[in-house]
Amino acid sequence: MFPEKIEQVFTLNVEAIQLLQNALDTSFLDAYIENAENLIDNYQVRVIDGQPNEKTMQRLSEIYQQIKDCGLEPEEWRKLSQLLLLKGSKEEHLQPNHQLTPDSIGYLFVYLIEQLFPDKTQPLRLLDVASGMGNLLLTSLLNLQLAKHEASGIGVDIDETLLSIAASTSELSEAKVQFFHQDGLQDLLIDPVDVAMSDLPIGYYPNDQKASEFLTKAEEGHSYAHHLLMEQAMKYVKDAGFGLFLVPSNFLETEQSTYLKKWLTSEVYLQGAVQLPDDLFKTKESSKSILILQKKGQDAKQVEEVLVAKVASIKNTETVMEFFKQFENWKNKNF
Ligand SMILES: C[S@@+](CC[C@H](N)C(=O)[O-])C[C@H]1O[C@@H](n2cnc3c(N)ncnc32)[C@H](O)[C@@H]1O
Repeated sequence: MFPEKIEQVFTLNVEAIQLLQNALDTSFLDAYIENAENLIDNYQVRVIDGQPNEKTMQRLSEIYQQIKDCGLEPEEWRKLSQLLLLKGSKEEHLQPNHQLTPDSIGYLFVYLIEQLFPDKTQPLRLLDVASGMGNLLLTSLLNLQLAKHEASGIGVDIDETLLSIAASTSELSEAKVQFFHQDGLQDLLIDPVDVAMSDLPIGYYPNDQKASEFLTKAEEGHSYAHHLLMEQAMKYVKDAGFGLFLVPSNFLETEQSTYLKKWLTSEVYLQGAVQLPDDLFKTKESSKSILILQKKGQDAKQVEEVLVAKVASIKNTETVMEFFKQFENWKNKNF
């Protein structure tokens, strides 16, 4: 399934992470960060207070030499990190809101960005306000670069460990990203971007006072974090730029959808929603869609026909091609 080279470095990294996990008595994710930092530090083993011990250090140095000899390309580093983190997520039983966005979904984001921004001479800046372990943002950046776009990104996350993972993977894969460790709903010190994107955390946001500054706030009780974060992210998008957000497919039918609709109809254009295949999610109720929003501006208007599409299966090339055809027909008629 994966090239032999990736399989080989995967096995080597699993061994290195396990050695570090035992030597430093840490979690898989902390050992992942330690391992990545060693690789970034020119494949050297960091020793603090005699840990890891001499024997472990020797073995790690051998492993690192073999990893170095594999000479991974940037996108290969990212694929490797995704495989390692998927393994780690299973071991550590990460809650759904902390899990990385799988490549299959990331590639759809890349497709949508390429369709919405066909001009390869235009440098693209992406923002992910809940970038977690960074897989979605890095999949997008590195694959846009492979498609000859100049792309850079900004990642924000409230969780320090997840953000450190994202930062180390981005260094290994030489992606152009700036990371901010903060609550995505606090002010961001950034210039406007072309695309805001995110696999949003689903649930309630605890800070009602901050939430009260947003149109999508609930009238009573805590507001939905994913509504607030979408509204926040779109504030940092250039006029006529786009927002692509992974949200529950029932986003227009929830108890707080009234507030979301108020914002969707006044501040941005809801141009489309692409429902993802059911088999990507545990239950039908947890299925998700990618919302396509456009910021208002001189060069933007509400499309005549809002795209409502469903990708039947990502594993079946024919159904993916059908979706591409439907999307391109829609785009040609409406933009
Ligand atoms: C589904 S994960 C994102 C996964 C990410 N796309 C990836 O590929 O690794 C959702 C993320 O939202 C973050 N989050 C939750 N509340 C947040 C907030 N108020 N501001 C910023 N990030 C937040 C969580 O820490 C988590 O990393």
